[in-house]
Amino acid sequence: MSETHERLTETREFGRTRMHITRVGLGTWAIGGGAWAYAWGPQDDSQSAEAIHRAAQRGINWIDTAPVYGTGHSENVVGNAVARLETRPHVFTKVSLIWDQGRRVRSSLKAESVRSEVAASRERLKVDKIDLCQIHWPEPEKEIEEGWRALADLKDAGEIAHIGVSNFSVAQMERLARIEPVETLQPPFSLIRPEVSKEILPYAQEHHIGVIAYSPMYSGLLSGTMTPERIRAMPGDDWRKRDPEFQEPRLSRNLALSEVLREIGKGHGASPGEVAIAWTLHHPAVTAAIVGGRSAHQVDGFVGAARLRLTQDDIQRIQSFQSEQPPLTA
Ligand SMILES: NC(=O)c1ccc[n+]([C@@H]2O[C@H](COP(=O)([O-])OP(=O)(O)OC[C@H]3O[C@@H](n4cnc5c(N)ncnc54)[C@H](OP(=O)(O)O)[C@@H]3O)[C@@H](O)[C@H]2O)c1
Repeated sequence: MSETHERLTETREFGRTRMHITRVGLGTWAIGGGAWAYAWGPQDDSQSAEAIHRAAQRGINWIDTAPVYGTGHSENVVGNAVARLETRPHVFTKVSLIWDQGRRVRSSLKAESVRSEVAASRERLKVDKIDLCQIHWPEPEKEIEEGWRALADLKDAGEIAHIGVSNFSVAQMERLARIEPVETLQPPFSLIRPEVSKEILPYAQEHHIGVIAYSPMYSGLLSGTMTPERIRAMPGDDWRKRDPEFQEPRLSRNLALSEVLREIGKGHGASPGEVAIAWTLHHPAVTAAIVGGRSAHQVDGFVGAARLRLTQDDIQRIQSFQSEQPPLTA
């Protein structure tokens, strides 16, 4: 890292948790590695460790992971890398997606399953207490209350400091709030997936629920480095190859949007990806964005988003581009 690289210092209060987190955090889905249902192709563990260390050097004070990312592998890589750091970042993980010996993934929020997931995460992450544990998906839906009660009990027992949810609707969060307040929410939020801004983000803001927005560059599609050739050359176990946003007719529109972001970024000395991330941070309900980084170089390439303030004119240019697009049927 060059000595001239600045560290992030600005933090925001993370909902009800009393944690103060930097406006970007490091996401570790892709560093779970290849050969499972939602893999991003192969990943070099030493590059992952460098990405985690670089994030810490740049002042990023939190990491998001999940047991299912690489079926335990991401948590192991995070646990090992964080153990070598002098100042430990907050580490957030999840429950609900479990797997069998053939790495086939399924959902469970049964109390017993939640308890054994948390025990396994504490071991992989090498911590007595998990900083934040989130229900990854509200599935099976009939088990969400059971899973939430189990998390609340683990919080009382001191195994988890804070509890939150991910991918939940307002109605589902209301069901949980009758049992124990929802401290945090992790929704998908990007220029390609802005839907949560209608109901879910206003609800979170009103109820003082901290929000960490995931996939702000739509998993690299808005980074400014994606091309049809790159997508064609992706390994067979990169889930993005199968995603409709990475295919026509949506791909051309998404890449055109990324060019609009490139133009806007020029005025700020920022990359298209940083503009995409800053757009999510512009929403008043959003505490911070979770950004995936597979190398130290990538971390250096997006960390500037935390400080980037888009102008009203920038926001208007993006909105004009979006509203000029004809509806897509496929
Ligand atoms: N709760 C949930 O259900 C859920 C779902 C999705 C994500 N998440 C969380 O949110 C995190 C972030 O989401 P995400 O990883 O899907 O998407 P993202 O942050 O929008 O994109 C990350 C990807 O963009 C590329 N990239 C990163 N920095 C770059 C740079 N400087 N220049 C060019 N390309 C760069 C990398 O992919 P390539 O180099 O391979 O292109 C990287 O893996 C995840 O890691 C995970 O922690 C949670």
